[in-house]
Amino acid sequence: MNIRYLGHSAFEITTKGKKILIDPFLACMPNYKPENIYDIFVTHGHGDHLGSAINISSEMGAPITTVFELANYCAKKGARTIDMGLGAWKDYSWGRAILVPAFHSSSTPDGQYGGCPCGIVFEIEGKTIYHAGDTCLNYEMKMIGEVYQPDIVMLPIGGKYTMDIEHAVIAAKWLQAAEVIPMHYNTFDQISTDVEDFKREIRGIGKAPAVLPVDGVLQY
Ligand code: NI
Ligand code: MN
Repeated sequence: MNIRYLGHSAFEITTKGKKILIDPFLACMPNYKPENIYDIFVTHGHGDHLGSAINISSEMGAPITTVFELANYCAKKGARTIDMGLGAWKDYSWGRAILVPAFHSSSTPDGQYGGCPCGIVFEIEGKTIYHAGDTCLNYEMKMIGEVYQPDIVMLPIGGKYTMDIEHAVIAAKWLQAAEVIPMHYNTFDQISTDVEDFKREIRGIGKAPAVLPVDGVLQY
């Protein structure tokens, strides 16, 4: 399995030749060409997460999995969709995905209610990966740590609209994950932060910071 960082909160996971996109906002990757996309996941309706999901789904036929209200919006715009509620899971050809709570807001690009924002737990090739979406620190992360025991977690660290580094370090403890990938920082001035602080603090609690440059890849 490969985890490729597409910048901001966007990731492309490749497993056995199939690609999964998460929050495909591709401003950091202007030359990115989606290929072999089997599934797209969107945590909430804000433009920096919905990104190019509808276009990619419409062009390639890959369904967008997200919460009910946002799935309906995407379907009306021509995307294929799979809707789920928080706490629900679904088995895909490559593994399992579970929607979990995120504490944030969600509206569609035209200002409609986007449903509840979410995070996503993936079970792929024996590894459990948690993408937190946009969220504040919250006690649901203790539940996610206890119930799903993630190996790898992707946490926002930019502050202002989400957790900052200090809270991401607490989240990493609660999630009990060995490896922590930071996201949602330095894309815009409002979410600028010093990722060196993140590395030091995460190492300080005995976990591995996995700081990826845009287009960086982790292999498992
Ligand atoms: Ni957001
Ligand atoms: Mn965001």
